[in-house]
Amino acid sequence: MLGNFYYSNPTKLYFGEDALQNLEAELQKYGDTVQLIYGGGSIKKSGLYDQIIEILIACGKTIVEDGGVMPNPTIKKVYDGCQKAKENDVDLLLAVGGGSVCDYAKAVSVSTWCEEDPWDKYYLRMEDVDNRIIPVGCVLTMVGTGSEMNGGSVITNHEQKLKIGHVFGDNVFPKFAILNPKLTYTLPKWQMVSGIYDIMNHITEQYFSGDDDNTTDYIAEGLMRSLIHSSRIAVKDPENYEARSNIMWTATWALNTLLDMGKTTDWMVHMIGQSIGAYTDATHGMTLSAVSIPYYRAICPYGLQKFKRFAMNVWDVNPEGKTDEEIADEGLKAMESWMRELGLVMNIRELGVTEDMLPGIVKGTFILDGGYKVLTEDEIMEILKESM
Ligand code: NZQ
Ligand code: ZN
Repeated sequence: MLGNFYYSNPTKLYFGEDALQNLEAELQKYGDTVQLIYGGGSIKKSGLYDQIIEILIACGKTIVEDGGVMPNPTIKKVYDGCQKAKENDVDLLLAVGGGSVCDYAKAVSVSTWCEEDPWDKYYLRMEDVDNRIIPVGCVLTMVGTGSEMNGGSVITNHEQKLKIGHVFGDNVFPKFAILNPKLTYTLPKWQMVSGIYDIMNHITEQYFSGDDDNTTDYIAEGLMRSLIHSSRIAVKDPENYEARSNIMWTATWALNTLLDMGKTTDWMVHMIGQSIGAYTDATHGMTLSAVSIPYYRAICPYGLQKFKRFAMNVWDVNPEGKTDEEIADEGLKAMESWMRELGLVMNIRELGVTEDMLPGIVKGTFILDGGYKVLTEDEIMEILKESM
């Protein structure tokens, strides 16, 4: 049964090869000063940076440069970005890049005019925003996080060895997002497949919980089938527009708040993955792939009926003559084989995790209670050891 919920998604989204043509009209809605936020240089190499600058100049904007946002953005970088935004009293934060760039822009958006330390207030204490917010717009170049149409902002504090995501309210969602699948063609295969698994895991985190019948789970199954199909095409033929555009759209729907309406969610793979990220700075999607199979094997007995349904409805496992356990197991095997086919990292050692880090990673994992089993610290340790 669906629970009570409130649904609103205020992000205006432009999709397709011609999507960038809409940037100018969106920019006209904001004041003169735009902080242009981007990563380590991929947009300069691809020529997108020049295109954006040209549009900003044509709109008469004053540009405040804010490049060099690293994958897994740090709070230190956020403090610098806030200083720039404050000094220039910027009217819009334009994020051009992947999830890291978008997440960072949202962090700067809520933190610039915050009178307390934003790390303490928004990430450690998870408080609501009660100060001025600078609007964010986004031109997406990497597919996976869904950050283009949600309130998520994941920030790393290396000193404290913590990577924390705050899901802000819809007043912090990007005001607009521009999605051209062709802008993702230049992604290295490592990033493309990491993003594909991030999408898959966003869906499973919301699917593997509850035992009720609800519309959301059927939508999730459809999205997973589409993703599996398109991913198999994209790894062989990265410039296949049909596949890349379907993957891009699936990523947005996987984490734009639709899939958790009226239902409980799990999110423990992400909690473990984030803690691994705080220790290793590893690529987000790979921190998830490396622990997923041991995690799902550990919780499968507690959510057996859903794992059976996953096997049959997502992986087309034939249930005839098999026990529920056998069906569920075949589903997980099919997922594992698909993950290997994509070339995902399947163990945490490969991400730089060493035995001495394990106790800290366990401590840094936030234990949530929406899934089939509330994990103990010992169980998290077991999952990590299985993932080594
Ligand atoms: O920095 P540049 O030079 O741009 O290179 C980036 C970066 O090295 C590169 N890249 C991006 N677009 C490219 C490209 N290279 C060539 N061509 C392109 N078109 O890809 C690398 C990774 O980019 P990044 O933005 O870090 O990847 P992703 O989109 O996976 O974002 C990861 C961050 O998002 C957080 C993760 O924890 C991580 O910090 N997440 C955010 C969420 C949210 N907002 O809801 C949810 C997710 O679960 C996730 O936690
Ligand atoms: Zn993710």
